[in-house]
Amino acid sequence: MEDKINILLVDDNPGKLLTYEAMLSELGENLVKANSGREAFERLLKIEIAVVLLDVSMPGMDGFETAQMIHEHPRFHNLPIIFISGILVSDLDRIKGYRHGAVDYVSVPVVPELLRAKVKVFADLYRKTRQLELLNERVNNLRDDERRQIARELHDSVGQLLAAISMNNAVLESQSRKRDGDMAKRLAEQATLIDDAIKQTRTISYLLHPPLLEEAGLASALRCYVEGFSQRSNVVVKLEVPSRFGDLSRPMELCVFRVVQECLTNVHRHADSPTAVVHLTQDESSLRVEVADAGRGIPSARRGELPPPGTGVGLRGMQERLRQFGGTLQVHSNETGTRVIATLPVLRPPASTSDEAVGASESI
Ligand SMILES: Nc1ncnc2c1ncn2[C@@H]1O[C@H](COP(=O)(O)OP(=O)(O)O)[C@@H](O)[C@H]1O
Ligand SMILES: [Mg+2]
Repeated sequence: MEDKINILLVDDNPGKLLTYEAMLSELGENLVKANSGREAFERLLKIEIAVVLLDVSMPGMDGFETAQMIHEHPRFHNLPIIFISGILVSDLDRIKGYRHGAVDYVSVPVVPELLRAKVKVFADLYRKTRQLELLNERVNNLRDDERRQIARELHDSVGQLLAAISMNNAVLESQSRKRDGDMAKRLAEQATLIDDAIKQTRTISYLLHPPLLEEAGLASALRCYVEGFSQRSNVVVKLEVPSRFGDLSRPMELCVFRVVQECLTNVHRHADSPTAVVHLTQDESSLRVEVADAGRGIPSARRGELPPPGTGVGLRGMQERLRQFGGTLQVHSNETGTRVIATLPVLRPPASTSDEAVGASESI
């Protein structure tokens, strides 16, 4: 049995709300009602809504203004809205509506079959999208598990073997120095190669899964990663983290870590920026992760859409990871740089008198 999805009905006239409710009850979904634009927005913030049925003419904030406000919120950019219009809508009005994010119109008198058919299309689309999202979530989690396993194997088996070879090599090198100078030179070269292999194995293992995340927590793992990234890429990175985070679960910590990792990789690969700033801030209800650079920006043809059309999986992957936790991703980019902002709903940790550093932030 599939879960019911939520459909939001917005009209200032309670009688009309009842009529729409009666027309749509046949769909067997959950119908949520609101009497004004403001009430509709409050409902949206609390409940996951699949489609909105919105009266165009309401006192106070009208349907167009409500739609605009809804679509300006990063979580509801793509929420489908069906306008219900009492008066005959002109093409101009329709265009205005589409610009404000309407996906369809229904005129009064409303034909029940037509309304049901239109709403059903979006309800089905929502279900399919949710299924895909869940599948993606599972694939992402499996990938994380696999990465963790490979990282551990690399570190524990290949890493240990290389360490043993390095020790043997040191013995051989010291013994051969007394007998054969040429061989000693070769063995010294070999020692350098083995050291490189050990370093690379560590880096690969680390990038696959940050071991510190489990042992020392997000702040330390980020600090360690950012330092390594700076050395490898020659990008000077400033990292600012709050001295205490809210209640972040392990998967959420990994999500934040991956967002920073992907953003910095993008800075290195695409931005051509000498510097970057990673800034984590926490307020009452959310954790905000901002990664900014002073580079060339996302190519103008690709700006404006998220993820940028025809590109890789980085930003899309981040968006999906964040969505799992009810978070959002915003990207601002122009010729002077790019700013990626990820927001996650996380409650601020309770204030503690013994910890004077609460609220302050530390940076490297
Ligand atoms: N910091 C950045 N500076 C400039 N361009 C960027 C930046 N981040 C992303 N981009 C652009 O956005 C595109 C999409 O990035 P992403 O989704 O991470 O895919 P990928 O890195 O695999 O190409 C990149 O191909 C690049 O053109
Ligand atoms: Mg990328």
